[in-house]
Amino acid sequence: MKSLPLSRTLVSASVAALLTGAADARQALNKSFNVLDYVDPLIGSANGGHVFAGASLPFSMAKAVADSDTDNQGGFATDSNHITGFSHMHDSGTGGGASLGNFPLYPQTSCPNDDINQCVFRYQDRAIGFLNESVVARPGYFSIALENNIRAEMTVSNHTALYRFTFPANNGAAANSSISPLIFVDLIDLPQSRSNGTATVDPSTGRLYGNGTFNPSFGIGTYDLHFCADFQGARVRDTGVFVNNRAGTTPKTVKTINDGVNNDESLSAGVFTRFYAPANNTILARVGVSFISVDQACANAQKEIPTFDFAKTQKAAEQAWTQKLSVISVDASGVSDEFQTIFWSAVYRAMLSPQDYTGENPLWNSTEPYYDSYYCIWDSYRSIHPLITLLDPLSQSRMVRSLVDIYRHEGYLPDCRMSLCKGYTQGGSNADVVIADAYLKNVTDVDWATAYEAVVKDAEVEPLNWAVEGRGGLSSWKTLGYIPTDDFDPYGSGPLTRSISRTVEYAYNDFCIAEMAKGLGHEDDYQKYIKRSGNWRNMFKADQTSLNFTGFLQPRYPNGTWGFQDPIFCSPLLNFTSCYLNPAGHETYEGSSWLYTFYVPQDMASLVTALGGREEFTNRLSYFHNSGLLYVGDEQAFLPVFQFHYAGHPGLSAKQVHAYIPSQFNTSTNGIAGNDDSGAMGSFTALSMMGIWPVPGQNVYLLTPPFFREVSIRHGITGKVATIRNLNFDPTYKNIYIQNATRDGKPWTKNWIAHDFFLEGGVLELTLGSTESSTWGTAVEDLPPSLSSYEVA
Ligand SMILES: *[C@@H]1O[C@H](CO)[C@@H](O)[C@H](O)[C@H]1NC(C)=O
Ligand SMILES: *[C@@H]1O[C@H](CO)[C@@H](O)[C@H](O)[C@H]1NC(C)=O
Ligand SMILES: *[C@@H]1O[C@H](CO)[C@@H](O)[C@H](O)[C@H]1NC(C)=O
Ligand SMILES: *[C@@H]1O[C@H](CO)[C@@H](O)[C@H](O)[C@H]1NC(C)=O
Ligand SMILES: *[C@@H]1O[C@H](CO)[C@@H](O)[C@H](O)[C@H]1NC(C)=O
Ligand SMILES: *[C@@H]1O[C@H](CO)[C@@H](O)[C@H](O)[C@H]1NC(C)=O
Ligand SMILES: *[C@@H]1O[C@H](CO)[C@@H](O)[C@H](O)[C@H]1NC(C)=O
Ligand SMILES: *[C@@H]1O[C@H](CO)[C@@H](O)[C@H](O)[C@H]1NC(C)=O
Ligand SMILES: *[C@@H]1O[C@H](CO)[C@@H](O)[C@H](O)[C@H]1NC(C)=O
Ligand SMILES: *[C@@H]1O[C@H](CO)[C@@H](O)[C@H](O)[C@H]1NC(C)=O
Ligand SMILES: *[C@@H]1O[C@H](CO)[C@@H](O)[C@H](O)[C@H]1NC(C)=O
Ligand SMILES: *[C@@H]1O[C@H](CO)[C@@H](O)[C@H](O)[C@H]1NC(C)=O
Repeated sequence: MKSLPLSRTLVSASVAALLTGAADARQALNKSFNVLDYVDPLIGSANGGHVFAGASLPFSMAKAVADSDTDNQGGFATDSNHITGFSHMHDSGTGGGASLGNFPLYPQTSCPNDDINQCVFRYQDRAIGFLNESVVARPGYFSIALENNIRAEMTVSNHTALYRFTFPANNGAAANSSISPLIFVDLIDLPQSRSNGTATVDPSTGRLYGNGTFNPSFGIGTYDLHFCADFQGARVRDTGVFVNNRAGTTPKTVKTINDGVNNDESLSAGVFTRFYAPANNTILARVGVSFISVDQACANAQKEIPTFDFAKTQKAAEQAWTQKLSVISVDASGVSDEFQTIFWSAVYRAMLSPQDYTGENPLWNSTEPYYDSYYCIWDSYRSIHPLITLLDPLSQSRMVRSLVDIYRHEGYLPDCRMSLCKGYTQGGSNADVVIADAYLKNVTDVDWATAYEAVVKDAEVEPLNWAVEGRGGLSSWKTLGYIPTDDFDPYGSGPLTRSISRTVEYAYNDFCIAEMAKGLGHEDDYQKYIKRSGNWRNMFKADQTSLNFTGFLQPRYPNGTWGFQDPIFCSPLLNFTSCYLNPAGHETYEGSSWLYTFYVPQDMASLVTALGGREEFTNRLSYFHNSGLLYVGDEQAFLPVFQFHYAGHPGLSAKQVHAYIPSQFNTSTNGIAGNDDSGAMGSFTALSMMGIWPVPGQNVYLLTPPFFREVSIRHGITGKVATIRNLNFDPTYKNIYIQNATRDGKPWTKNWIAHDFFLEGGVLELTLGSTESSTWGTAVEDLPPSLSSYEVA
């Protein structure tokens, strides 16, 4: 394939696509290509992946699925055995406890002996099996057949779930006319956190509506949520309420209360509507949700799905997904369906959260967008937000504006947030990285002055409760230059653990603030934060050894004396699970000192030197990947896959990527490492397969060959197309080493590229070979940016 000259004149996006993106054009012209055929929402729905497998729109609040009785963090788990209902909101891929899943619907074909009290109501009684082979999951659609012969299908709009329940044509031996379906809503949620709740049924229409107060799944406080369920397809026979396992046709409202003493969050209570036999054996249930009011829940549903048109709603969802994915095109010739499915499904999963709750925020009135389910930024800053910036810069702009608006109204940027509540901070204040990344990549419409104020507050003002925002230990940070073990911190509270991991993250957060300070012309701040970004050195113990390597981060007391934590502690080789977010969590969060010693993205040149120079660094990084010390299912593992670039070995990064994809990331239901964490694993996979690893918070993408002959990305604002083309492409992935590269026809020797390539478009042509090149991307001037200078190799 010949590269065409880049058109610099103003042409429409589609014409530009034809000129510069051959793959783009081919994909568009191939009428039989439907990208949604390559999205499998069930990837990661087993073995603790916790991926949301149900019906969603990109970033939507409504996310409908069948809820499993076990491992139900994302609602449905392929490897669970029972379904407890169908609910309308979920988070995807989260660790910890289950999230949301409020107000589940539960259908029954009829009550035995036509007696309401013989229907099942209680959560613990109603779990029902399903037929594994009946599960169908596609973008915007989910379907499952229960053992009671009811088939449930679901689709969504932004704030509304639409269900189609098909009842058995013949209820066992009884005649069709004996079918009298009963559908109820339970005031429960998946974590069983409800305190107060109220549900009412309108006896004339069968409408079920109400509200509840619930707890967030990984944070503090409570949130109120409202629902409004309407039905179509059958006449209302009678209505009523149930509490526990008893039901009656009066009254029409039921309340659960929390008086502080007598509260059972797991108590099932709710409202039902019973129908005459549906004309068609099907009943449609439309459930609107709102954080504002029942009225708004009903209005959302009425506005979004006025006629209960299932096919139309599903089609709109499919179109929304097709459109979101259409900014990428690949020339997949020779590439297996499996790799194509790994890729597109990964991109899809990175567009489920954060969720757009604009117009649904009861906490403050604002004209800014409001997004939620930043769950958590510690997971998402590394690759989810950089991927959204690449593929959907308008959504990224709305998300960053929303972060800044949260700062305006709550005083701090969030580090983790779900269900309108503050979530727990895991390390540094990594919203600083998200904001700097967006700033450097020309994300539009953000109030950068206020954004800068927000990141500086993280760096300067310790909050009273730094477990949920800001940073702890700021006094030590400013005076000692590290977070000590056994810190003296009378200024705020939070878990006094993770001294090593917080130190390296705070240092990087300060670097990101420095970059913004420079861009915004705050020269004094720039100097101050650049200096603080070197604080990682204060915990680097140059003579600490581990497994034949020397120089590791170690704990340090306030008086400067070193403590000790075995550098392999909390790696998979030693006490892997001893570093969680609890008071006994030790000095490195969810990882080892081995892992955190590599986290100096601002100054890799200094790190390479500190670890003994290029070859010693390369040996150590290879050993880290190949010894079992690194678990790729946690997000801190992502950057080390590509850090060979900093030692002049970009080919080894490519080799390492192929060692993880597809072995750890494939198309099976357990085909991701760890939890997906709101699409973190998805974004890692997508970016790796496109060959552009973003160093988050920097205007830098580390280059490796895409897994396709060619990949093009059309920028959402400039409309320009950036194409990366492999010459000598080999779909068996033996030729995975870049020998040479050109950008728009001119030699490109750097092993990285900046975001202007994606803003302005162009063609990057990579010549591949089967062995590591000893020249391309290896010279000091071709290594990625670093604060200090690299030593000449
Ligand atoms: C068109 O798309 C179909 C379905 O994805 C694929 O099988 C076929 O190889 C594609 N044809 C070309 C010429 O790319
Ligand atoms: C369904 O699949 C799950 C997980 O693969 C398995 O545990 C279960 O036994 C299967 N059930 C049936 C009925 O095949
Ligand atoms: C759903 O919300 C997105 C923004 O998150 C918006 O772009 C889209 O137009 C909405 N869909 C409909 C049908 O309103
Ligand atoms: C529940 O309602 C009671 C009054 O009925 C109120 O005192 C209490 O604060 C409410 N609890 C929550 C968590 O909203
Ligand atoms: C829930 O609805 C009831 C009945 O309309 C109302 O009294 C109560 O204030 C509502 N609770 C919340 C949290 O909105
Ligand atoms: C019966 O089902 C078909 C197909 O699902 C649908 O087109 C038709 O409108 C339904 N009729 C009624 C009365 O609901
Ligand atoms: C937002 O404005 C509405 C309408 O003026 C008002 O009812 C509501 O109380 C306001 N909410 C907040 C949190 O200020
Ligand atoms: C991006 O922003 C930088 C800094 O403000 C500016 O120099 C550059 O021209 C912008 N690029 C585009 C394509 O807008
Ligand atoms: C450490 O080095 C020695 C001597 O070279 C070697 O025998 C040993 O296997 C090495 N240990 C590890 C863990 O690599
Ligand atoms: C520094 O503090 C640690 C921990 O409290 C203590 O064990 C050590 O003896 C102290 N070192 C000096 C030099 O005072
Ligand atoms: C390490 O794990 C072992 C059991 O595997 C346990 O006995 C020990 O207490 C753990 N050590 C620490 C420091 O957590
Ligand atoms: C790489 O490209 C340069 C200039 O573009 C050329 O001189 C050199 O021969 C090429 N090397 C290989 C191995 O293709």
